[in-house]
Amino acid sequence: MAWRRPRKSVERPIDVSRALEQSLEDAAEGEELDETVELADLDGASVVEASTGEPDADARTPTDLEVKLRAATAAEDARPIPVRSAAGDASAALRRAPRRKEPPPGAANASPAFRTASDPDLHSRASLGSDSAVYPESGIDLAVEAARGLWLRNPVLTASGTFGQGIEYAELFDVARLGAFVNKGTTVLARPGNRQYRIAETPSGILNSIGLENPGAAAVARTYGRQWAGLGVPVIVNVAGYSVDDYVTVVREMAGTPGVVAYELNISCPNVKGGMLFGFDPELAAEVTAAVKQETDLPIIVKLTPNAPDVVAVALAVEAAGADAVTAINTVLGMRIDTKKRRPVLGTGSGGLSGPAIRPIAVHITYQVARRLRIPVIGAGGVTSANDALEFLMAGASAVQVGTATFADPLAPLRVLEGLADHVRGNQLQSIRDVIGTALPRPAADTEGHDEDDDAGA
Ligand SMILES: Cc1cc2nc3c(=O)[nH]c(=O)nc-3n(C[C@H](O)[C@H](O)[C@H](O)COP(=O)(O)O)c2cc1C
Repeated sequence: MAWRRPRKSVERPIDVSRALEQSLEDAAEGEELDETVELADLDGASVVEASTGEPDADARTPTDLEVKLRAATAAEDARPIPVRSAAGDASAALRRAPRRKEPPPGAANASPAFRTASDPDLHSRASLGSDSAVYPESGIDLAVEAARGLWLRNPVLTASGTFGQGIEYAELFDVARLGAFVNKGTTVLARPGNRQYRIAETPSGILNSIGLENPGAAAVARTYGRQWAGLGVPVIVNVAGYSVDDYVTVVREMAGTPGVVAYELNISCPNVKGGMLFGFDPELAAEVTAAVKQETDLPIIVKLTPNAPDVVAVALAVEAAGADAVTAINTVLGMRIDTKKRRPVLGTGSGGLSGPAIRPIAVHITYQVARRLRIPVIGAGGVTSANDALEFLMAGASAVQVGTATFADPLAPLRVLEGLADHVRGNQLQSIRDVIGTALPRPAADTEGHDEDDDAGA
């Protein structure tokens, strides 16, 4: 299936004197019409096609990734799937409870999406299907408060833009094992995304400039809502926009969509009024947060951009404006040059760097933000293993998102989950919550004038 458009030449240079994200948008402007065709074609793309950028021709030798995917599918098919209750399962994740250190009593029984060691229903429900429908993490207390009032059964989420709309991966494994998944960035209107190439490999990571390709909020709610309800996993909708109204409208369009338990605001978008990125400016970020809070009772998670001049200031501003959690971090701006063609590899010039290459940056920002904020922090950036996830949790994150790692190994989120369960079991901890924030400075030490920031750098 020819789903990938041939590469177009870069005609519009990136204006480095402006915010780079704004320049990316400018470069993509006017592409919408041409690329609508591509969006339609992409709809049928397999996970392999989407992740490798290669057409899926049966005639050619399978790539390493295809071999891995097939092996993963076979392994997962061999596992029994636990029985879940029908629609509404995921949306039963607990919301709006006051923030607390321990899960509310009876929570496990109240929500089938929330299973802990103390959930007596887990085994009886599983036994309805098969005796062996118990996973390696079963019986371990991994429950976390991922956003104020939003308790999830475990701290492993998938990152926006790397897990489609969830249903694609449901073919590969039981996605109800995840704490939650975050869908692809959703805008008011359908967007075809940026010109090719939109993904380039880098050492320990990838650069992407997908450009928020999505079918628009109303279509997302209509098309995926019903399917999300049946997945048994809480859904967090990633919201993007170019004005405060855009963010509010997306949330309004998504209202009542089955399975949705929270919104994550992608504030790495330029505001059409003035061109400044929402995520660069504490005031703008606070404005969009407050406006969305007015529109919904669901928790609002604000996703921080590491490209902001002062990420901690933005985090504090959105907390004051009512955010229920922050995600740290979105991608880091970067570029690769094709030395033969003497021009940038990506169609937009610059793009967002993700994967293990950005993990130390993400852990640093998580730590800096977690020590200043009272609301939960969700860590993201280069998580590929349980040990990576532990770094974020110890730096103060309450949960983590696995993103780019799923392109190389679609089961990476499960490996992280199983590894965290092993950590709790192996260290005889009561729960994964015992790990959260353990690397943060203790309050007494913190007040003695020693700020680690002072020592940072060479
Ligand atoms: C291909 C791709 C698409 C992405 N799309 C989005 C998006 O639509 N919205 C968003 O907030 N973040 C998006 N991201 C950023 C990720 O959600 C995540 O914050 C970032 O990649 C860091 O995590 P990772 O290193 O585990 O991938 C995207 C990342 C990649 C690689």
